[in-house]
Amino acid sequence: MKSKKDVRILAYESSCDETSTSVVKNGREVESLIVATQIKSHQRFGGVVPEVASRHHIEVISQITKEALAKANATWQDIDAIAVTYGPGLVGALLIGVSAAKAASMATGIPLIGVDHIMGHIMAAQLETEIEYPALALQVSGGHTEIVLLKDPTHFEIVGDTRDDAAGEAYDKIGRVLGVQYPAGKTIDEWAHQGQDTFNFPRAMIDDSSYDFSFSGLKSAFINTCHHADQIHQELNKYDLAASFQAAVVDVLVTKTIRAIKQYQPKTFILGGGVAANLGLRKQMQTEITKLPDSMQPKVILPALKLCGDNAAMIGAAAYNLYNEGKFADLTLNADPSLELPYADSMLE
Ligand code: KG4
Ligand code: ZN
Repeated sequence: MKSKKDVRILAYESSCDETSTSVVKNGREVESLIVATQIKSHQRFGGVVPEVASRHHIEVISQITKEALAKANATWQDIDAIAVTYGPGLVGALLIGVSAAKAASMATGIPLIGVDHIMGHIMAAQLETEIEYPALALQVSGGHTEIVLLKDPTHFEIVGDTRDDAAGEAYDKIGRVLGVQYPAGKTIDEWAHQGQDTFNFPRAMIDDSSYDFSFSGLKSAFINTCHHADQIHQELNKYDLAASFQAAVVDVLVTKTIRAIKQYQPKTFILGGGVAANLGLRKQMQTEITKLPDSMQPKVILPALKLCGDNAAMIGAAAYNLYNEGKFADLTLNADPSLELPYADSMLE
């Protein structure tokens, strides 16, 4: 049987502090992935400075477009669609990717696809293996903490969300108190593995009936503990602090996710977003899923660490699903800093 023509997508991601380009084949195979990180430029400010982010995106985007094509051994003639993150994120940062993608689409005549950043994080899983639907994702990053039901590759339903801070944001904020440079998640994760949960910080909303989260109380409890110790000149063990903070975050994330898996019984479970790189979270989630009865065990996809943080390959994966449905954008595509996932009705009945 004659095989269907391969679909190659050139994808752009510039929603925050990484400028990234990638060529993805058939939504599954990463032919090239370039990630130009700007973290060093933001570290001295303790967080991302939007104007600095936009300037860095402009500086590298043309160069990394060429690099992504060259590394994939591709020319514009080999590209079937140009995909770009158009929200949510920092508006000035998003605009650089959107403008680059639109310019390339206009110059070459290659169709354009606008992709939701969160949909991208979840579809990083598709680069690992096939997702069977319905699927359920825990999407945890610097800006979002959500439990998402996926009816199919393009229709999602948020069943739980954070009421205040995102999990990654909480990591970054408590990291600052411990003198860890932004972004603090990876270091806190490493420290947590060298300490014990001795502080027993609060696990907010762990037993309530919703799938929502709250991390600001935990953050305040952590900061108060450190300030109090400072005032009485007591030195606290940073490894135990990290382990206690991480245990509180992971307990809540895993408990609520397991309850959602029991209720919705998805065929696949996906962990997505920057915090999905957390080794404590990955381990505890896997352990608790294996304790579920056989009939409730979903296929588990934990994307490779390099696909958890912001990258354009995940945007190329998500764009392929939109391509298959003919969901193209035109040159009126604009950055939408508060874009929301495409809603799927009839999933919660
Ligand atoms: O998805 P991402 O790259 O950007 C957003 O879309 O927000 O996530 C970045 C977040 C940061 O808050 C960072 O501290 C956190 O992910 N992060 C981690 C780990 N690696 C990155 N948090 C906990 N443990 C990690 N190993
Ligand atoms: Zn992200």
